[in-house]
Amino acid sequence: MAQSYSLDSKHRMLSGYDIPVLGYGVYQTPADVTEDVTLHAFKTGYRHVDSARVYRNEGPCAEAIKKSGLPRSEIFFTTKIPPRSMGYEQAKASIESSFKQTGLDYIDLYLIHAPYGGKEGRTGAWRALVEAQQAGKIRSLGVSNYGVHHLNELESFIKELEEKNGKGKGGEISIGQWELHPWLARPDIVKWCKERGVICEAYCPIVRGQRFEEPIMQQLVKKFGKTPAQILLRWSLQSGFVPLPKSVTPSRIEENANIYDFELGAEDIKALTTDEYSPCAWDPTTSND
Ligand SMILES: NC(=O)c1ccc[n+]([C@@H]2O[C@H](COP(=O)([O-])OP(=O)(O)OC[C@H]3O[C@@H](n4cnc5c(N)ncnc54)[C@H](OP(=O)(O)O)[C@@H]3O)[C@@H](O)[C@H]2O)c1
Repeated sequence: MAQSYSLDSKHRMLSGYDIPVLGYGVYQTPADVTEDVTLHAFKTGYRHVDSARVYRNEGPCAEAIKKSGLPRSEIFFTTKIPPRSMGYEQAKASIESSFKQTGLDYIDLYLIHAPYGGKEGRTGAWRALVEAQQAGKIRSLGVSNYGVHHLNELESFIKELEEKNGKGKGGEISIGQWELHPWLARPDIVKWCKERGVICEAYCPIVRGQRFEEPIMQQLVKKFGKTPAQILLRWSLQSGFVPLPKSVTPSRIEENANIYDFELGAEDIKALTTDEYSPCAWDPTTSND
């Protein structure tokens, strides 16, 4: 089954829309190069861009979408509500700003970036997302960096909204985005998502290059004749995740998409996966805000 992945592969989300299984991340990509590198990603075959309001490059991502010559329907664009814009009014303003910045007619996926702002902040932001989804502005909704306790809180809130407003009127968690790789496999969160059909996106899928020298990586590099980044992206894909590698380097953008001509065996995945809990980025999942 894993072998059947290609650059065109997609997963169907609970919203009913499809998401390309490989995304292109633009965190820390300076605004003045974003358009060019994103166009290079489209030329390479990526059809999915992961931005956020706090990355300050939604506008140039949208420019690249427009200049790519590709139909809008073939490109998947994600952005996120900033941690400092939680709560209904602020989230609503954040969503409006994204449309102003991008000039897009709709946004494919809008995530809550992190579970901050207390319960009222989180549920208020979710209400703003649901409202925009019902208005046809946003197609799919999700969260990022939520711990299981935050996910449970949101699940209860969605039920409450449905009881009040009717079936399907609470929104659905189509996507969850987390730092996920062999040194942070988050089994509790992944299990929660699998049981409900929530698709997990993997950020820092190549651990920012920090684990390339691990002995197991070197063994697999030799075995498959692929680079450490490609091995890690394959681990992500074959775990059922949607990896979001970032690069501003054209050759690496291509390298990170060249992952469909080999398959890790079950024994390779087992050898690679650890029970470490070693984030390389921030970790709001443990917040009790
Ligand atoms: N929701 C969240 O809180 C959150 C947090 C972090 C990230 N994200 C998302 O996930 C994306 C990816 O995460 P990330 O950027 O933190 O980490 P990453 O993709 O694991 O690593 C990116 C780093 O690795 C380098 N790199 C890329 N491809 C390489 C290759 N083939 N060989 C060697 N080095 C390579 C890049 O350098 P160059 O660019 O210089 O080539 C960059 O320094 C972000 O862009 C963002 O969209 C989300």
